[in-house]
Amino acid sequence: MIFELTEEQRMIRDAARDFAQQELKPGVIERDEHQQFPVEQVKKMGELGFLGMMVDPKYNGAGLDTASYVLVMEELSKIDASASVVVSVNNSLVCYGLEKYGTEEQKEKYLKPLASGACIGAFCLSEPEAGSDATSQHTTAEDKGDHYLLNGTKNWITNGSSASTYLVIAQTYPKKGHHGINVLIVERGMAGFTIGPKENKLGIRGSDTHSLLFNDVKVPKANRIGEDGFGFRFAMKTLEGGRIGIAAQALGIAAGAYELALNYAKERQTFGKPLAQHQAIQFKLADMATQIEAARLLCLKAAWLKDNGQPYTQAASMAKLFASEVAMRTTVEAVQIHGGYGYVKEYHVERLMRDAKITQIYEGTSEIQRMVISRELLKD
Ligand code: CAA
Ligand code: FAD
Repeated sequence: MIFELTEEQRMIRDAARDFAQQELKPGVIERDEHQQFPVEQVKKMGELGFLGMMVDPKYNGAGLDTASYVLVMEELSKIDASASVVVSVNNSLVCYGLEKYGTEEQKEKYLKPLASGACIGAFCLSEPEAGSDATSQHTTAEDKGDHYLLNGTKNWITNGSSASTYLVIAQTYPKKGHHGINVLIVERGMAGFTIGPKENKLGIRGSDTHSLLFNDVKVPKANRIGEDGFGFRFAMKTLEGGRIGIAAQALGIAAGAYELALNYAKERQTFGKPLAQHQAIQFKLADMATQIEAARLLCLKAAWLKDNGQPYTQAASMAKLFASEVAMRTTVEAVQIHGGYGYVKEYHVERLMRDAKITQIYEGTSEIQRMVISRELLKD
């Protein structure tokens, strides 16, 4: 067992760290305040290969391993989780599914521009009445011979107004339940496809979250991914990898808050000495560091299993469950260590605390992760 990063992994991590400091940090407070999508920063992340990290270079990807992806997600999320969620969705929920299950034509047409960062994608599973209970899809994809007729509404879609390519899950054969669900590639601009208003959110305010409306959208049959009725399995398999990405995002938010708290504790004086010399603060820092290290190991273990072709359903859910809870606890403590300064925007920790909350909700809530883990534990 080797607990060391390779030379290549270290270089990629350092490149992401430098990028986050130089390109994400300036303006992060303003983007949060004004709910601005990080347009220029996403372009640059594409140029650095962060948007198609694990995709084969023959489809314009960087051909890296999942561990490198975890390292990049951690570094970006220390500074700006609104930017890192773009990386997570594009890599895990869009590029991965297209590369693994798409046809050569679909890969040429859709995967290549997504992996190079020429455009970004969105993954559309959730609906007003189907979030955790994802099998109860109300959006329909009626089979019309050479095309599907898509009708319905998707909720809370990340990259909702910035994406060009949308993977939309919809029900084709209601009587077949989840076996009747398909996944279709929908292009922005297809007739009948409209984007609802942007959600005004607690955290990840720079990320554009929208509902999407489909009204008799004609989607060619060639845009279905996988066999007829494969859509729900597709969503589940894709989300497994997605949960590693969001676990790493949570890890980064926690690590970012911890680093700020540690530095602040060394500088701020109370009762004639730095905060860091009060044992109550030292113990908070010790708990934060221990939990962050455990979260990092769970993320890297899940990544290692995926990279080595082993089952990772349970490991991905454990990583996401644990890291997201660590993100919440750590950011709350980081605000506490900053005292009143932690409560104002300039010190960054209040934003990290607001951003942390979403990691317990999206890509399966903490309750859903416990459900997935316990089902795996109880399997024969
Ligand atoms: N791999 C392959 N197949 C899987 C699977 C997996 N990991 N998990 C479930 N399935 C299959 C099951 O085998 C079953 O198929 P069969 O009947 O053929 O065996 C089918 O899927 C249905 O599974 P269940 O019977 O377990 O269904 P359920 O309704 O009891 O529970 C669930 C399923 C795990 C709760 C699922 O609905 C779920 O994951 N819900 C959470 C949804 C979610 O994570 N949404 C995230 C949206 S994307 C997002 O949020 C992006 C973002 O923020 C940035
Ligand atoms: P519900 O399913 O209604 O759950 C409400 C509460 O009840 C939760 O605490 C849940 O854990 C709990 N609960 C539900 N069922 C059970 C049960 N059986 N046992 C115990 N507790 C239960 N979706 C996409 O498809 N694509 C995206 O890009 C995307 N991006 C998102 C971005 C943001 C900012 C947000 C807020 C959401 C996003 N989502 C996206 C949707 C997200 O995945 C869902 O919000 C999430 O899966 C929960 O669904 P819900 O909101 O309908 O909550």
